[in-house]
Amino acid sequence: MMEIVVILFGYLLTCVCADGLADVVLSCTLVEEGVGLGGMGGGAHFTRTPATLVLRDVPVASDESLETLTPFIPPSIPDSDAILLEVKVSSPEIPNAHVLLHADCNEQEVMCEISRYSPHGSQESSGSAYFMVSVSVEGVEFSTALILQTLVVEKDHSTLIQNQLGLPLSQSGTLLTEVIFLVYSHVKSVSAPLRGDVVLNCGFKQQEIPLAQEVAVEWRLQHRGQGWKVLELKTRLDEAEGSTVVHEQRRGSSMDAQVVREGNASVTLTKLKVLDEGSYICTVSIGLFHAQQVIQLQVNQPPHVSLSEEKLVLKTESPQTLSCHCANYYPLDAQMEWLSLSPADTEPTVLPDQGSLSSHRQHGDGTYSLSSHLSVPSTVSPGTEITCRVSHPALDAPLSVSLVVESPEQGSYWWILGFLIITLLFFYQVMR
Ligand SMILES: *[C@@H]1O[C@H](CO)[C@@H](O)[C@H](O)[C@H]1NC(C)=O
Repeated sequence: MMEIVVILFGYLLTCVCADGLADVVLSCTLVEEGVGLGGMGGGAHFTRTPATLVLRDVPVASDESLETLTPFIPPSIPDSDAILLEVKVSSPEIPNAHVLLHADCNEQEVMCEISRYSPHGSQESSGSAYFMVSVSVEGVEFSTALILQTLVVEKDHSTLIQNQLGLPLSQSGTLLTEVIFLVYSHVKSVSAPLRGDVVLNCGFKQQEIPLAQEVAVEWRLQHRGQGWKVLELKTRLDEAEGSTVVHEQRRGSSMDAQVVREGNASVTLTKLKVLDEGSYICTVSIGLFHAQQVIQLQVNQPPHVSLSEEKLVLKTESPQTLSCHCANYYPLDAQMEWLSLSPADTEPTVLPDQGSLSSHRQHGDGTYSLSSHLSVPSTVSPGTEITCRVSHPALDAPLSVSLVVESPEQGSYWWILGFLIITLLFFYQVMR
């Protein structure tokens, strides 16, 4: 058996590895609502206490190399002040839990918050206590909400009681728990094209001994302080006939009952509109338990970029206006830039005069348009290439449209030549 401790930003990750299984130790915060403070109608008062979460038996790929080796010393004397939650994660398995093992190497911060959980309508007489644990990893698509149930501890005269929680501790000073239900989403935010389709992923798992046969999935959208229901589906896991009820509030949203029974609560949204943007909350309820995940949806549409002129012939006296139209894009943050490349140069340069911008116009579908008007001075040398370059979040690379400035002589030369020929013909006729 190998024992490993990895330090991460002051977070302590410990892995005790054997047979492709590892233990992950996370620094968490226990958040409790203040007792006897605030009172009726008073603002919520929360206390935050450091706590530790030990996830036992997280599966590790055999080619995993865990480098920083330091022995992990379990508390030799159980401490009734310490909050140490020990969780067996083999059943149900936490999807992608191995991400937690890598968080240290990749310098990603792990967010872990624990709170007491009371199942809906329970009488609190079952002898078990419940906790809700939210774990997510910064910069990685990992987010899980776990519901933990404490295991029964055989009490004797030596059994310690955790001071703050009033729960009996195991011989090694931990609160023994098991995962009974979890909701996860490994996508925290999604971008999808306007009028396109998107799948928002959300999944759940429950203990092998099911908590209940009925599952309800609700998707809500929250945007700018407003919230509304998108879709709700209730079904039975035993596939009883006619057991599925679907409420489709947003037209073009769907979930598949069969897929939901397999633990996939993902929703499909079709024909996306700008108004579909926001925070989607996936709530899965099983029996007395429910947990949620939040996914951000960003709708986007790349701009259509064009120039007002197909060709630009210099006039000797007055400057000419060239406009760049950037049309039907979303979101608002589009950037326009004028560049010029004269025949003598190899690299285009950003024009010192960036023209004048029109105000944003918003269309019925929520997209925007913007134009930039550049005054091309008559002093610009013919053959110069003028480019309008547009950057937008929906574009992988900036989009450019250009034209080459033509010299005025070319046009007038033919005109003068034509005039001369006509004049000569005229004189020839007259003199004959
Ligand atoms: C869940 O179903 C959706 C399609 O409805 C699919 O795109 C997604 O990959 C599935 N997720 C999992 C974890 O199987």
